[in-house]
Amino acid sequence: MLRVFIASADLHSSQQLRASLEQSGLVGEVLEWKVVGDNLPDAGDAMADVVLLDLGRDPDPYFALAKHVRGLQPTIRIIACSTQPQPDPQLLLEAMRSGVQEFLPKPVSPEVFRETLERFAVEAASPEKRGGDRLVVVMGAKGGVGTTTVAVNLAVQLANKHKKKTGLIDFGRPLGQTHLMLNLTPRFNVRDAVENLNRLDGHFFAGLLTEHRSGVLLLGGVTQPEEWERINMAATVRVINVAQSIFDTIVVDYGTQFAAEWGPVLRGARAIVIVAETNVPALWALERHLLALLGMGIDAGRLQIVINRWRRADQEALKTVERNIKHPIFSVIPNDYKQVSDAINMGAPLMGNHNNPLVAKFAQLAAQLTGMENAPQQGKTGGGFNLFLFSSKKGG
Ligand SMILES: Nc1ncnc2c1ncn2[C@@H]1O[C@H](COP(=O)(O)OP(=O)(O)OP(=O)(O)O)[C@@H](O)[C@H]1O
Ligand SMILES: [Mg+2]
Repeated sequence: MLRVFIASADLHSSQQLRASLEQSGLVGEVLEWKVVGDNLPDAGDAMADVVLLDLGRDPDPYFALAKHVRGLQPTIRIIACSTQPQPDPQLLLEAMRSGVQEFLPKPVSPEVFRETLERFAVEAASPEKRGGDRLVVVMGAKGGVGTTTVAVNLAVQLANKHKKKTGLIDFGRPLGQTHLMLNLTPRFNVRDAVENLNRLDGHFFAGLLTEHRSGVLLLGGVTQPEEWERINMAATVRVINVAQSIFDTIVVDYGTQFAAEWGPVLRGARAIVIVAETNVPALWALERHLLALLGMGIDAGRLQIVINRWRRADQEALKTVERNIKHPIFSVIPNDYKQVSDAINMGAPLMGNHNNPLVAKFAQLAAQLTGMENAPQQGKTGGGFNLFLFSSKKGG
């Protein structure tokens, strides 16, 4: 049973949170700390497993407390909750900087607490199963380079060939398009997830998904561009966290956005695939993105460059690129306009035929990214193509 420390300035709200925590069935003891009045706890005070910040109008003392307890006990888990269903990005950024790992809108149901606390327990028990280790984010160095094609086919191979329980979440902006490539008509999309944060647990999340015959479970993207105005970072972080509690692997079509607010998610991801093509605008954008991501504190070894629409003639140029950006190219996907566009237009992802170089390539990429033992070694396969061009070691 867990020990939870509630920091609040509002007795009524603190009592409601206490009741919900107790009903979650996972909490043995709840301690309360009055934000105005009580001294900051010191190392001698009995510490808790989880700190719950019941944010007031001025969040600063709460964040100061979060930083303080984290300094005393780095493994502590910190949850912030507030009456704002959609906290503004600045608040969220400050929360994350002070070590907050979850942002829950009030009122928080016992189910939401249970799901969050269970996930904390799983993560603490087996570090290799930590949520982020299941997340593969696919982003484009620029628009149109094939980010969605890579995300969809990667997910399909994980589910269909490698038999992983695979979720695909479409954060493509301004419109999600993964469902078109899978010929699905999702009833729900990411907006339904973020608008129901207070009900969002693994069970509710599973109900929003649409299954593809490959086994991929899709949370579709928005179908009207203005829907993005109602989606913010706190919400998307939580959607991803919940998704990680029910899948072996989550593939996110991240599109081509760049947002500092995604930092905590990206830093925790197993891999960030940056898709580019061999042309000047895409390679220039690739370098800029790579620098920005490294600047966000993302481990270079997790940034995996994939060159899409690769042709043999690109080889020399790409070797120069590797030298210039001082980062290896992880994989290349051959150019096959007819096959890819037929697949897209028919809504039939590349599947089945393992002698097909594109299918083999996506299967190999899926295995490499998820660290599967049977991942073919670079240079040894490629369905008849010499697809691995580069000898440099990965890990920048
Ligand atoms: N390996 C490939 N060979 C040939 N054509 C490809 C390949 N991959 C993608 N394409 C083509 O590139 C186009 C864009 O693909 P896709 O929609 O996946 O890109 P995107 O980066 O997700 O675009 P957006 O920025 O609009 O979201 C498609 O029309 C597709 O036919
Ligand atoms: Mg796309």
